[in-house]
Amino acid sequence: MRNQILFTILSTCLLALSNSAPAEGEARIIAGPYLQHTTQTSMTIMWETDQPCISEIHYGKARFRPSKQKKNPDPAEILDQKKTFKEMRTIHEFTIERLEPETDYFYQAHSWESSGKEVQSDVLIFQTAVRATSPFAYVVMGDNRSYPERFKRLADKAWAERPNFVLNVGDVVTDGRNKGEWIAEYLAPASELMKRVPTYVAIGNHENNASWFYKYSSYPAPENYYSFDYGNAHFTIIDSNADLSPGSKQLQWIIADLSASKAKWKFVAHHHPPFSSDKDDYGNTDFWLSKRGDPRVQSLIPIYEKHGVDIVWCGHIHNYERTWPIRDGKVDQSNGVIYIQAGGGAAKLEQFAPTRSWFTAKVLRNWQYCLVTIHEGTFRMMAYDLDGRMYDYLELKK
Ligand SMILES: [Fe+2]
Repeated sequence: MRNQILFTILSTCLLALSNSAPAEGEARIIAGPYLQHTTQTSMTIMWETDQPCISEIHYGKARFRPSKQKKNPDPAEILDQKKTFKEMRTIHEFTIERLEPETDYFYQAHSWESSGKEVQSDVLIFQTAVRATSPFAYVVMGDNRSYPERFKRLADKAWAERPNFVLNVGDVVTDGRNKGEWIAEYLAPASELMKRVPTYVAIGNHENNASWFYKYSSYPAPENYYSFDYGNAHFTIIDSNADLSPGSKQLQWIIADLSASKAKWKFVAHHHPPFSSDKDDYGNTDFWLSKRGDPRVQSLIPIYEKHGVDIVWCGHIHNYERTWPIRDGKVDQSNGVIYIQAGGGAAKLEQFAPTRSWFTAKVLRNWQYCLVTIHEGTFRMMAYDLDGRMYDYLELKK
């Protein structure tokens, strides 16, 4: 009996050792790896270690198994290329270039602390951006801050959709100045999704324009606003916390960006909603009328109408609202711009005004995400709640 107890203690200790985290002093990966900006020929990958390290990204194009090979390969066989950064740092960022479009690549993050000890990630996979003629899908979510368990449920559902990328309409953390929240509220709960799917964020007010937003992100400069093409669509990402008055630097950039794009579909994302039926953010409807839209972004509406924007994605208000197509302050089904507020990403829900707005097509007070699929001139949007029920559907053809 005594021998059996000793054996049990010993085997428990051995098991604990074999599963253990690195010994004290050894570097650990504390965030990521996660994917950021992708093009048809490049991918940006980031991760963070808890102490300064030099780092390498190992990668290789996914291939079919050779007919004579019976065993699964060693990682080194499928990760046949690498890129090295020799300066010590804690946040590691690599843009791999000269990749092939719409192609799967395996990758693995490696870091070495000063003593030479190595830490590495699992072998993961990403896909470069699709060709302009190919169908693709993206997920939209936002306001995932403050409730990481709920956000994890939603992020896992988004990953289950196998989207090409994710658009996040902002407020990913409670206070962007608190470094720990970037991992606890955002990067950790969404890790299954973000290590395989690039995520584009439109900066929210809760990010507080903090340096951590820029440190943890890698988007085209200046990063708080930027644009990119994916498939046959153009995406313009705007900082609605910053100045958007006529003549402002960002507004001039938005006009130039939208007028230069010849893409079939034009999508815009920013945090604050130009049209919203929130109960009390734009006038407390218990006592007063509401403006039913955020004053910060009203200057953008005529620009969207002029430059043929199809959908404007926004958040800030924690629930879902889709407008009718709008032009010149009224519903215009043939030439209007549709605004979709997708702010049910985890934060505490807000309430709608008690009466319907003239622009409302659909409201839902629940946590939610949207899935968009696009092929050539067909756009489909399906909106799902946290339990996977589809509660809204939109199809556009052009
Ligand atoms: Fe917000």
